[in-house]
Amino acid sequence: MIMKGTLYCVGVGPGDPELLTLKALKIIRTCPVLAVPQSRTGVVTAQGILLKALDGCGVSLEDKMVIAMDFPMTRDDQVLQGAHEKAARRLQDELDQGRDVCLITLGCPTVYATSIYVHRLVHEAGYDTEIVPGVPSFCAVAAKLQQPLCEKDEALIVIPGNNAHRKELLALEGSKVIMKPSGRLAPIQEELRDLQLLDKASMIERCGLPGERVYEKAADAKETGYFAVLLVK
Ligand SMILES: C[S@@+](CC[C@H](N)C(=O)[O-])C[C@H]1O[C@@H](n2cnc3c(N)ncnc32)[C@H](O)[C@@H]1O
Repeated sequence: MIMKGTLYCVGVGPGDPELLTLKALKIIRTCPVLAVPQSRTGVVTAQGILLKALDGCGVSLEDKMVIAMDFPMTRDDQVLQGAHEKAARRLQDELDQGRDVCLITLGCPTVYATSIYVHRLVHEAGYDTEIVPGVPSFCAVAAKLQQPLCEKDEALIVIPGNNAHRKELLALEGSKVIMKPSGRLAPIQEELRDLQLLDKASMIERCGLPGERVYEKAADAKETGYFAVLLVK
């Protein structure tokens, strides 16, 4: 009987390939199958980070089976569930053949990552799985701004831009990280202004990626693309 493979859900960090962990690199090197999500945003980026990280370290994607995974950018739960189930089945086919699979994830798989849904399905189906954390985008953004995320007894509040309670969360005491602000920057700036926090807000677009933009004052930014994080400190 063939021993089933293991699924590794691996974070590759938010952009700078040097932020890939040694553990991530080791797993990427040894897994015969790499599953790379494809969509109009994050995922193409994850592959870009991977290619740069592998450049010069003796690993070529040509030596691997690369599975492109289709994760649609939709809020339709049924469509998403169908895509996750299809992806999980595809990975299980490889695991059933005894091949280990590395599922590449932008940033850290534990932070708003699509790959975690696929990981969960495979895990619940009884396969061996492991999550390998990566550097989350908000840590890289704080580091680039040369600011701590939180100090002493300060709370850290991570808010997705589309959260229904965004303004209430922004009003809480503590450092605030705003992720996924794309398409909502103006109302976020407005709320921060109302709360007298706009002066304390910075933003980085495409942190560690080509086209990176640092806004020491988030008030100076007009709109932003998908890859942006605000830090309110
Ligand atoms: C689906 S979430 C994925 C988060 C990711 N797993 C992490 O650990 O950061 C996508 C959001 O992460 C943030 N993000 C990811 N990479 C980024 C980067 N290089 N620069 C700025 N923001 C980034 C943006 O807020 C983006 O909308």
